[in-house]
Amino acid sequence: MNQQINHSSIKLIIICFLFSIISANNPLRINNNRLNKHLSELSKFGNNEFGGVSRVAYSDADLNGREFVMKLMKTAGMDVHIDAGGNIIGTLAGKNNDLPPIAIGSHIDSVPEGGNFDGNVGSMSAIEVAQTLRESKHTLNHPLIVVIFQNEEGGLFGSKVMTSGLTELELELQSSSGYSIRKGIQRIGGNIDQLEKAKLKKNEWVAYVELHIEQGGILYNENLDIGVVQGIVGIKQWDVMVKGFANHAGTTPMDQRRDALYAAAQYVQAVHEIGKNTPGKQVATVGKIKSFPGAPNVIPGMVNASLEIRDLDGKKINSIYKNIKSSSENIAKNTGTEFKFKQTINIIPEPTNRRVSWAINQAAQDLQLSSKFMPSGAGHDAQEMAVICPIGMIFIPSKEGISHSPKEYSSPKDIANGANVLLHTVLKLDEQYSEEN
Ligand code: GLV
Ligand code: MN
Ligand code: MN
Repeated sequence: MNQQINHSSIKLIIICFLFSIISANNPLRINNNRLNKHLSELSKFGNNEFGGVSRVAYSDADLNGREFVMKLMKTAGMDVHIDAGGNIIGTLAGKNNDLPPIAIGSHIDSVPEGGNFDGNVGSMSAIEVAQTLRESKHTLNHPLIVVIFQNEEGGLFGSKVMTSGLTELELELQSSSGYSIRKGIQRIGGNIDQLEKAKLKKNEWVAYVELHIEQGGILYNENLDIGVVQGIVGIKQWDVMVKGFANHAGTTPMDQRRDALYAAAQYVQAVHEIGKNTPGKQVATVGKIKSFPGAPNVIPGMVNASLEIRDLDGKKINSIYKNIKSSSENIAKNTGTEFKFKQTINIIPEPTNRRVSWAINQAAQDLQLSSKFMPSGAGHDAQEMAVICPIGMIFIPSKEGISHSPKEYSSPKDIANGANVLLHTVLKLDEQYSEEN
């Protein structure tokens, strides 16, 4: 048994080594001008007054952006369809279409008041890779899939349809567009009655590789070209309701109030402090808060807020949550209020595949780009796809580490670097996995 493992590991190392020599000299490159032109064209859909985009999933801007994407895919020579879950899937035929496809892609939906690069860089680059291959008449052995997942920002809903599926509760969640996930999927051309058909089988794809902006400041601060992602954080989110008692703001003495907003303010502080003071790299955030009835002369009787906790270790997320919950119970006791937590999102942390990461790092080296292995603090559809196939992620620098903001920026040079690494990773995986089949 051990000997078998040793033989196959050695064989794999030799194959990888041989292909690294062959592809180190491969001159194929993406078209930088076309890629950056497509990015700026995409940024018109949902552009906002701050210079970024508000293209939340299922909005009109999202619909128009998706039309644009499908047109680009067709021009790049792909067969395009929308799966039952609303994901856009373009396929570029390979030499042997009986082989499972290699998949690349990202998302084009944004957070409210987001930037022009999150998701867009990976989406436009994936299409650019397909177009480059077609133009250069380099037909892969495997088919190539370019996937544009729907509603990544809301909680990886498109990729979840393809893997574990969506629960009734998830389908009823309200998205930032105001539509429920169920209505949203119908609005973008999915088929809610056929969701099962969008599910992929284990190993139906050879691998899924996603190029993305880092969204943090490591590469930018260290002046590095490429990040090779080792693992993606888990994310849990909750709707938090604080119940107090609405009463007259002029006649209710200060010591007789059950002020839900006063309690919520302490809760926000507790979340920040527990997130900050617990040893480790976890993050905890209250990003949404609304007070009711919302008048200057009424003591707030109810507050709806959120809670989000992220870490590479799922157990750590749970222990931070426990601490926040018990702190909220104390706040409730002291303020005469009540806290209720309802979990909405549960995304598990995922390591990336070592072999795919190796191919990414090798591609960066072939292109004479500096690189570093690093974790991802942002969530990505890749972590959902890890359920069915090996995954890898390529990061490029985000200026000053800013993201989810109109100020998000990555330079055309960094974007071209990332797209070339994506192209060469695909070439490597195509060769390596063909050799094995
Ligand atoms: C997606 O960008 C996320 O990490 O929330
Ligand atoms: Mn993203
Ligand atoms: Mn994002």
